Amino acid sequence: MKPLRVLALVREGLVPPESMEGYSDKEIAEWKSEFDVVGTLREMGHDVRPVGIFDDLGPIRQAIRDWSPHVAFVLLEEFHGVATYDYAVVSYLELMRQAYTGCNPIGLMLSKNKATAKRILAHHRIPTPRFDVFVRGRAKKRAGRLPFPLFVKSTIEDASLGIARASIVQNDAALADRVRFIHDTVRSDAIVEEYIDGREIYVGVVGNRRLQTFSPWEMVFTKMPDEMPRVATARVKWNPEYQKKYGITTRRARDLPPEVKNQIVKLCKRTYRALNLSGYARMDLRLRDDGRVFLIEANANPNLAYGEDFAESAHATGIDYETLLQKIITLGLGYHAPWKG
Ligand SMILES: Nc1ncnc2c1ncn2[C@@H]1O[C@H](COP(=O)(O)OP(=O)(O)O)[C@@H](O)[C@H]1O
Ligand SMILES: [Mg+2]
Repeated sequence: MKPLRVLALVREGLVPPESMEGYSDKEIAEWKSEFDVVGTLREMGHDVRPVGIFDDLGPIRQAIRDWSPHVAFVLLEEFHGVATYDYAVVSYLELMRQAYTGCNPIGLMLSKNKATAKRILAHHRIPTPRFDVFVRGRAKKRAGRLPFPLFVKSTIEDASLGIARASIVQNDAALADRVRFIHDTVRSDAIVEEYIDGREIYVGVVGNRRLQTFSPWEMVFTKMPDEMPRVATARVKWNPEYQKKYGITTRRARDLPPEVKNQIVKLCKRTYRALNLSGYARMDLRLRDDGRVFLIEANANPNLAYGEDFAESAHATGIDYETLLQKIITLGLGYHAPWKG
């Protein structure tokens, strides 16, 4: 494969060091994805230049002008601390006629707001929990079509920020409390959804026009008492001691009947297209005991760290880490941005 000039866009402070030696696990966790991607691309022979970005597009312009990268590898998930601004950075790359990896600006804009995304999915009759949006500063009552239990989350945060066991609410008082928590503490609008009790499934999707899905992955809770809800709260996702205590791990989803697996694959591809995604994404789904599958969330540009769900499920599908990163670059180079005419 041809060696390329790759401009790696990372958040300021997350330009990875040459080696992990001497860093604590906590420090490594901060820049693990950046380290894995940059290091692996270099091992593959690419010329990689990481640039840290916070609130200034200047360094991107400079690097594009001075160095003419073949592709910008987008590892940035925010701009000036705002997680929903990544679409604007990618728009800028398009304005600069710079090829880049991952999702296009429209897909990022539509998918990263859970309210917008769900409205589009509802329009396409894609199975997703019934929902309502509670806007900050506007009083509102629960609609009759939303019976308890309900699940409350932020419309714009990800990584399970603001998601705890208290996100599951059983009555109007608890609902009002949790909506207030999202409004005042997480500081965003809230989305309230029908609570889907079931298995937690993740599916990687790659492609621009022709799409490929990876083996369905599952979060399992092998030592969790039955009365505790099995949802991916912030603690479940990020606290290693908690994970150990409750036997929380992710692995290939076992014993999925072929028709359920087919349904999952179709659902993921329809969602990817409905939200105008490109590059690569990871779908979060829940599978109920009655066999019904629900799309919970579409994640454009999911975490690419080695050993994380996306890369692991690619591996289980026969795509090793280098091949995965190369695929992502090839898709970035091949994406038909409007400026290409
Ligand atoms: N409607 C729902 N019913 C049941 N569990 C849910 C629902 N919505 C979210 N969850 C749980 O919360 C987790 C995080 O929600 P998600 O919408 O994926 O937000 P995030 O962007 O923080 O990942 C999900 O992985 C799932 O375990
Ligand atoms: Mg999620």
